[in-house]
Amino acid sequence: MKIMTGNSNLPLARAIAGYLEMPLTDASVRRFADEEVFVEIHENVRGEDVFVVQSTSFPANDNLMELLICIDALRRASAKRITAVVPYFGYARQDRKPGPRTPISAKLVANLITTAGADRVLAVDLHAGQIQGFFDIPTDNLYAAPVMAADVLARSGGQDLMVVSPDVGGVVRARALAKRLDNAPLAIVDKRRDKPGQSEVMNIIGDVKGRSCILIDDIIDSGGTLCNAAQALMDAGAASVTAYLTHGVLSGGAVARVEGSALKELVITDTIQATEAAQASSKIRVLSIAPLIGEAIRRIADESSVSSLFD
Ligand code: R5P
Repeated sequence: MKIMTGNSNLPLARAIAGYLEMPLTDASVRRFADEEVFVEIHENVRGEDVFVVQSTSFPANDNLMELLICIDALRRASAKRITAVVPYFGYARQDRKPGPRTPISAKLVANLITTAGADRVLAVDLHAGQIQGFFDIPTDNLYAAPVMAADVLARSGGQDLMVVSPDVGGVVRARALAKRLDNAPLAIVDKRRDKPGQSEVMNIIGDVKGRSCILIDDIIDSGGTLCNAAQALMDAGAASVTAYLTHGVLSGGAVARVEGSALKELVITDTIQATEAAQASSKIRVLSIAPLIGEAIRRIADESSVSSLFD
């Protein structure tokens, strides 16, 4: 078995290799002068079970090309089995047609990864579980919830917790976390815009008064969804709002938005390498998902159960 990586998240790849007590495969993933990606593997991988770690995060298209070209290089080098380990699967939000004449890019990206030669995929908190079905190869979707729940329980001694989904679409994810927090009660932020052009109204379903709210979502991108939800919860009388997000995309002014928000703390995982601004923020903390991914890789290589990681 071997662990190879592109350039999207070297600290995470190193931490996964560290968990598995093995070195990263000796390879270079670099650019030609015109920015074309070039991959060269400097050791024999013939007959090996190879895991390529690469999030398709910013710059999404460059990182996706690196992943595809790593897989192609491995296939042509006669690796026995190639698993694309994509901790953050970019393009996942384009999983259906939002209007006429629009693409379903998540399906296209799934096809590209399969066509490049991946035999399996391992991802973390796919935006929608159904995206597994976009791949015609075995796809494991890991959940960050156990890592988050352990952190909440370690820090929340005696607080009156309430798990909150920032939108109706995230209820299943929120319920799964609540279950791990001794069946904490659940609330939902229901966003409504009655007419186009009117500003959004945030209704809170559930009584959050005096509660320490744990907002959970898969992605923070611009931060709008999360910061607005945090404000609505505080306006409804919550004692505090802490947010747990798997994928810290944090585009544009998101870090500044979080800094200026009603959030007490934003906890993200390292599926995406935190930017310098995120690392410097006093409100943002990063939990490592490397042991979870490392353990899943070990189990895939040993052909033992991955789902039992979440029992
Ligand atoms: C949406 O369905 C996702 O779960 C996130 O809520 C969304 O992508 C967050 O985006 P932003 O931070 O830009 O509001």
